[in-house]
Amino acid sequence: MSNRPEDQNHLLPPSGLSSSPVRKVPKDYNFPRSVCDLVGRTPLLELARVGNGSRLLIKLECFNPTGSAKIRMALAMVRSAERRGQIKPGYTIVELTSGNTGLGLALAAAQLGYKFIGVVDSHAAPWKLAAMKAYGAELIVVDGPSDRPSTMLRRKKAEEICSSSPYVWWPDQHNNPNNPLGYSHLAEELDSAISASIDVLVASVGTGGTLCGTARRLRELGHSLTTIGVEPEGSIIFGPPAGSYKQSGAGAPGGFPVGCNVDTEAIDQGLKINDVKAFATCRVLAREKGLMLGGTSGAAIYEALRQLPSFPAGTTMVVIACDAGEKYQNTIFDDRWMIANKLLSDIAEHQVSGMLRAFDDSIALSNRQTANLSRYWFTAEGASARGL
Ligand SMILES: Cc1ncc(COP(=O)(O)O)c(C=O)c1O
Repeated sequence: MSNRPEDQNHLLPPSGLSSSPVRKVPKDYNFPRSVCDLVGRTPLLELARVGNGSRLLIKLECFNPTGSAKIRMALAMVRSAERRGQIKPGYTIVELTSGNTGLGLALAAAQLGYKFIGVVDSHAAPWKLAAMKAYGAELIVVDGPSDRPSTMLRRKKAEEICSSSPYVWWPDQHNNPNNPLGYSHLAEELDSAISASIDVLVASVGTGGTLCGTARRLRELGHSLTTIGVEPEGSIIFGPPAGSYKQSGAGAPGGFPVGCNVDTEAIDQGLKINDVKAFATCRVLAREKGLMLGGTSGAAIYEALRQLPSFPAGTTMVVIACDAGEKYQNTIFDDRWMIANKLLSDIAEHQVSGMLRAFDDSIALSNRQTANLSRYWFTAEGASARGL
């Protein structure tokens, strides 16, 4: 090869292949050396915009290893336990988990030299249980007498395993302060990606770590946020009545002692969204936007779409979407399962579709200098545009 600069910047392609130049990789480039280094820096998608300049951004946490936000807190809890000397390589980590925390802990344990036991119930998506096993976890299934999640029984089992050996550590995700702290980076990613102030943060709530941890750090960074927490109807975090629900990962069943990571001071609105609306949102987003998300993300986005027009012009609203829909092919995206569980609703899907259309209409109207979505939304014209 000659010493001409143009020759040094390009490798010649083999004859017969495209003549476009192949760029040389700089020799000193450091590739991530562990899958744990790939956690974070997830993308933002603008899902909706209002003619008045407000917009809805979705933080797509499914782009993390394990496909969910929960790997952030799993790593934070394990690394903090290492620093405090609570665990040493070879120890066992045990946690009751409906899936995504278990996936995070299973991956973190395998990569950092621990064994992981997940105490699960049949409420969890089968995909998540299979994936935990694939990461090397041992699963103990504890089902209750009813259709509801057996959280209390699983808690008892985790305590039992923990007290059986000094070499077992239970992170206790509902009360471990490193769960919310694990979302500090998520907040910093939002702060550096969004130049405007972040006005509204929406997330589904289970342990509370995602919403409260992200909100706390964003407030420290100077954002004066309104926070909206969403739980499945039937869950009791924001109050009774208890009932059954199919959203996997968020919520707490009747009788469950809500842990201290649900910081009620940090949550401005605590709302309940039923499975029909949550799942209808997932199905419409997949069909119309090519965005396939899990049920708890569907619930949070449903509420965000509903409330966005009622916030002042120029509002930036962010939804943290915990995971993707691929894990729910046998449930949310399976018509037969949806029908068998009385969750398939053309009306609900039509309504979600109408909300998305109304945002597009609002942009078109504002381009003609006439948009006022708040007014339009509630008029007969707006309703008929949404097909209602
Ligand atoms: C799919 C899904 N959504 C929402 C949540 C709730 O997140 P958090 O426990 O941080 O409140 C979880 C928790 O595991 C989850 O797996």
